[in-house]
Amino acid sequence: MFQTRLLSKSQVQSLITMSEVLDAVEKTFKGMGDGTVINPTKVNLDLGETASYPPYGGFMNAMPAYIGWLDTAGIKWAGGFFERKKHGLGYITSLILLIDPKMGNFKAVMDGAHITNLRTGAQSAIALKYLHPDKNIRIGLYGAGMQGHTQTMAISQIFNIEKLCVYDISPDAARKYAEDMKNVVQGEIVIAKDPKEPADADAIICVTQSKDKFLKNEWIKPGTIVFPMGSYQECDDDFILSADKIIVDHVGQCLHRGALKELCEEGKISERNIFATIGEIVAGKKEIKRNKNERILCIPIGTGAMDIAVATIVFQKAESKGIGGTYEFE
Ligand SMILES: NC(=O)c1ccc[n+]([C@@H]2O[C@H](COP(=O)([O-])OP(=O)(O)OC[C@H]3O[C@@H](n4cnc5c(N)ncnc54)[C@H](O)[C@@H]3O)[C@@H](O)[C@H]2O)c1
Repeated sequence: MFQTRLLSKSQVQSLITMSEVLDAVEKTFKGMGDGTVINPTKVNLDLGETASYPPYGGFMNAMPAYIGWLDTAGIKWAGGFFERKKHGLGYITSLILLIDPKMGNFKAVMDGAHITNLRTGAQSAIALKYLHPDKNIRIGLYGAGMQGHTQTMAISQIFNIEKLCVYDISPDAARKYAEDMKNVVQGEIVIAKDPKEPADADAIICVTQSKDKFLKNEWIKPGTIVFPMGSYQECDDDFILSADKIIVDHVGQCLHRGALKELCEEGKISERNIFATIGEIVAGKKEIKRNKNERILCIPIGTGAMDIAVATIVFQKAESKGIGGTYEFE
């Protein structure tokens, strides 16, 4: 009989650091680029996120993956629910299930929210490592919530953040973020009053639930890299259609969710408009020679592969330290 390890959120938190996540995310991007990571397009269950029925305003995604460099497989079941925010809870919920890829037995079940948050930060930080060769960076951040925090934590481990300008529709969220991140960001943190202000940056990161296309084409200067990472469209159509290069983490997923979804449905954007995947760049299959005036649109919409890789490292450490309960489950 096989043993399945069960790990709570606090146990997961105690078992993984952002620097381990950055390493795992980079190796997994490489695997996506060289074909040793298998990541089918996520399946979306609409619980009223866009559909009129059922009326819960949320969604869940099923995100399976196989990771060659760890010889592991699993699935993340993750979603976002506005109702939780009314109760002071995080927007994202998530559970990760790991299997043995040969026998199919269930190796672990663990809370996935912390892993999701860390790997979401690490995805853009690793993409930036390849797209922005300078060590110094100025960041414009829209959305001072959970993902805003982990984006900052990850980028600050690779770059010297000279300045970070943050805008949030909730001034309280922006103030809390600035307080939380004051010892993480190397340079100054500026709270923007005008949503145009953060756009004056080397990299703009959007991690909001906005559907308003608030980031305007005319705000974005030559040479900027824009990461619209929210689940809906945060930048306007003109920017998407005029960006010099579009880079994504997963072609199928990015055409059906997030920034490109609407334009894809209208037939204005397709696979042909995508210059490269992040994986192809990390694996050295596509070279990115930056012209300093190019405006780049980079969309790490989030893949199960990152979650399964990080969860496997958490599982391996839990096994070696004897952390978490086990139960029999064939
Ligand atoms: N790409 C990925 O891999 C990935 C992973 C996890 C979450 N997400 C997405 O990231 C987004 C944020 O998630 P979170 O967990 O940080 O949520 P959160 O609720 O903790 O934070 C979101 C913040 O955005 C702010 N906001 C909303 N609309 C805004 C606007 N127009 N301008 C500026 N700020 C605005 C909110 O006030 C809030 O403070 C969601 O869309 C979520 O689905 C993406």
